[in-house]
Parts: sequence; structure tokens; C-alpha cells
Amino acid sequence: MSGVLITLEGVEGSGKTTQMMRLGRWLRRQGRKVEHTREPDGTRLGVAVRRLFERPGVHPKPLVEVFLFMAARQQHVAEKIRPWLDRGRVVLCDRYADATVAYQGYGRGVDPDLIRELNARATSGVVPDLTLLFDLDPAAGLQRNRAMGRRLDRFEREKLAFHRRVRQGYHEILRAEPKRVRLIRAGEPPDVVEAEVRAVVEDFFRGA
Ligand code: TMP
Repeated sequence: MSGVLITLEGVEGSGKTTQMMRLGRWLRRQGRKVEHTREPDGTRLGVAVRRLFERPGVHPKPLVEVFLFMAARQQHVAEKIRPWLDRGRVVLCDRYADATVAYQGYGRGVDPDLIRELNARATSGVVPDLTLLFDLDPAAGLQRNRAMGRRLDRFEREKLAFHRRVRQGYHEILRAEPKRVRLIRAGEPPDVVEAEVRAVVEDFFRGA
């Protein structure tokens, strides 16, 4: 595998999707070959998983949520991420293994160590080279999403306390792996966030 996997993580409304597009454009201008993808819906199977969560009357238990995200992840790695990395691409992925630790582990109370074990299988050992953690007070993020006026999904509809646990989970991941995971202050204006992202990614490619 000669490519590079960069994942983007964070609470709802942290602006990571917009920043992924901006980062992709910037990397392409430098002549790099970039692929964009996202979880859970980076494959058709993953799209089916996301839809399943939104079906009326479907209420997966916390561990079932874990299995569904893991199923989507293994398919995604096998079908898209690994082949891209084998072709030397820079792969930008909006959410990945850390999201299950933060949301189902810290948010829903599933044992984070069990999730790490399952992630090792579901990712076939494909670990991000760099993870950008878009950090923001969840109250501000949810407010941003509501202001955009779109329908909220199963997770966005959760109480603020859930989202605060998710943020805390991401902070624990950052503490455990400060070299791989880099904090981005996502509450700043988009251009400032973009500059911070570029600085971190530049450092990474320079091998800092
Ligand atoms: P989003 O990234 O478009 O916001 O939607 C993905 C939603 O799914 C988000 O609310 C977080 C949630 N999610 C998990 O709970 N666990 C996971 O492992 C992943 C990939 C996403």
C-alpha cells in the first residue's frame, strides 16, 4: 500500500465535510491524486446501512449499531479504500473507525475495547495515517445543523448529553494517539479552519 489515508472526524455540525472538499481541491492543485469517500455510505451496502437506521420501527440496540457500522466498514475497505491505497492515492474519508469508538463506545456505552477489536477486523488493519479531529462544542454544532434546515438523522436527534460524551470520546482517542490524531479548532470561521487544516497536512507530508 503506497497511498495515504486521511480521516476526518468530529461531532455533528463541525464542518468537516466542507473542509474535506476544500482540502481535496488544495491537494489536487499540488498534483496529488485524491479520492473522497465517507462512512457509513461509501459503498452501496453502506448506503443501505444508513437507510436502515432511518426506517420507521427499526431500533437497533447499541451493539447492533456497532455490527452494522462494522459491516459497512469492511465492505468499504475491501471495495474502495484498500484498492485506492494500493494505487497510491490520497484517500480522504469523512468518518472511519474512530467514529464507532466515539459514538457507540462513549456515546452509547458499548465497551470501547471491544469496538477496537472489531475495528481491527473490519478495517483489515488499515489504520489512518492522519486523522483530523474537528473539535467544537456540540451545542454549537447542532445549532449549525438546525440552521441549515435539513432533516436530522437518528444520531443528530440525540440529546446534547450524548453528543458531549461523543466529544469526550474523541478527546480520549486524541490523548491516546496524539501523533496520528490532530486537533482542529472547528469553531473558527471556515477560512481560518482551512488554514489550520493545511498547516497540519503540510506538516504531515513533510514528515514532521
Ligand atoms: P454524518 O457523518 O453525515 O454526520 O453521518 C453519519 C452519522 O452516523 C453521524 O451521526 C455519526 C454516525 N456514525 C456512528 O454513530 N458510528 C460510526 O461508526 C459512523 C461511521 C457514523
